[in-house]
Amino acid sequence: MEVSSEYAVQMHGILKKFGVFTALDHVDLDVKKQTVHAILGENGAGKTTLMNILYGLYQADEGGIYLNGEEVKIATPTDAIKHGIGMVHQHFMLVENFTVTENIILGDEVCGAAGVLDMKKARQEVQALVEEYGFDVDPDAVIEDITVGMQQRVEILKALYRGAEILILDEPTAVLTPQEIEKLIEIMHDLIAKGKTIIIITHKLKEIMQSSDECSIIRRGVYMGTVNVKETNETDLASKMVGRNVNLTVEKTKAHPGEPVLSIQGLTVKDERGIDQVRDLNLEVRAGEIVGIAGIDGNGQQELVDAITNIVKAQAGTIKINGEEVQNTTPRNTYTHSVATIPSDRHRWGLVLPFAVSENTVLERHVDEEFGAGITLDYDKLKSYTTELIEKFDIRPSGCEDERMSGLSGGNQQKAIIARMVSAAPNLLIAFQPTRGLDVGAIEFVHKTLIAERDRGAAILLISFELDEVMDVSDTIAVIYHGQIVGTYEQGTVDENELGLLMAGGGAK
Ligand SMILES: Nc1ncnc2c1ncn2[C@@H]1O[C@H](COP(=O)(O)OP(=O)(O)O)[C@@H](O)[C@H]1O
Ligand SMILES: [Mg+2]
Repeated sequence: MEVSSEYAVQMHGILKKFGVFTALDHVDLDVKKQTVHAILGENGAGKTTLMNILYGLYQADEGGIYLNGEEVKIATPTDAIKHGIGMVHQHFMLVENFTVTENIILGDEVCGAAGVLDMKKARQEVQALVEEYGFDVDPDAVIEDITVGMQQRVEILKALYRGAEILILDEPTAVLTPQEIEKLIEIMHDLIAKGKTIIIITHKLKEIMQSSDECSIIRRGVYMGTVNVKETNETDLASKMVGRNVNLTVEKTKAHPGEPVLSIQGLTVKDERGIDQVRDLNLEVRAGEIVGIAGIDGNGQQELVDAITNIVKAQAGTIKINGEEVQNTTPRNTYTHSVATIPSDRHRWGLVLPFAVSENTVLERHVDEEFGAGITLDYDKLKSYTTELIEKFDIRPSGCEDERMSGLSGGNQQKAIIARMVSAAPNLLIAFQPTRGLDVGAIEFVHKTLIAERDRGAAILLISFELDEVMDVSDTIAVIYHGQIVGTYEQGTVDENELGLLMAGGGAK
């Protein structure tokens, strides 16, 4: 692409290495003025790295940056801000106990005579911006008292306050409810109408279709091209991102639930600070059904899973598995009750990375008689067992039994965990964010496996922060808010808006 003033941003031939690893291999990006431009790629593709280079947080090893057709050097974020570039990071960088205005002017104080900070003037300027862009934010509110969606608007205001003409949003919807996402997309379109240019990083196809004019795709650090969003669809974007065809729809038959496997009554769990994270929670999962918990991160999901698996204590209530109370015993006891968990953090809980793939496949089963009693392992048996799993679950590279787990990609590590969990034929399978960080191809596999386990007769408890995943995969959808189940629906009887309201604490009808 030629360098031209038609483009707000052009990045050409960007090479970035971290040691011997090439994160960006001569990537190009051409963003037309006054458009929303999406950058799509799987986890680790290099999206954030590319934008960190534009924002002056990293330096490219090779390549050029052009703004409005002119080459620029951006060595620091201060340079980027001077050139009218603003960035809202994935994790907000606000001071919790400061007000909105204080956060916005932080590091950019308006000084009156004699260098005294003129709070009054700053507040007026913030108020003017809030009104100009129609943001629903109170300049005097304290950050910790406002919703995540509002905090994000404060970050955007902060960039606008510094004169941003080009706004970079890194995975802005990850922490938002459906309503907040809708509002954000409105704001984005409004900013475009007022002359701004927006670059949005995401791996969510639906949001690209709703928000963006063009989309550039990066696959493992390599630029795969730019498409006009009007001329494409989600399936096409997915295959460009992953490099093969993928089926995005979850196919399953109607569930035929049997007896309750998991019954939770009046469960209360406190965190280490003594605050109730799960509060008088009731939940039932029957054999042969998938119950999905919809909710925003931090509403008690982790504590719920930890209590069921006996990693933390329950302050009150009962947790029954097949009619037997298991609360406040041991993780081992949970396991003997035929409960398997696909953890949300596979590195912390799921795998031992320096161990071989074969050793990882039997982590909690080493005490089973099959592999030799007690502390000795029957390595031949172990290896043939692993070979079987690798084939059955298509863990790549094939023949990786003796390789270290750390050498496998995230998707294949997740397959290895699932293989291990599922091969024990559990009565209850807990899947906590089972597709986090996976590409669409691996997601398809995980969903198929959950449904196959259901059809085998297992009870499945799915906990996910991705509302679409919960809605697509679950037979029954339960919404968690502030540690309580605030609504339960059969699949197909509730829409995204209704669930979104409950997830945000909107209360049941
Ligand atoms: N500071 C760093 N040092 C070493 N490796 C890094 C660093 N930042 C990113 N990487 C690596 O570069 C790759 C791209 O990362 P990133 O740009 O964050 O991906 P994305 O935003 O597309 O998920 C990943 O493999 C990541 O581990
Ligand atoms: Mg990123």
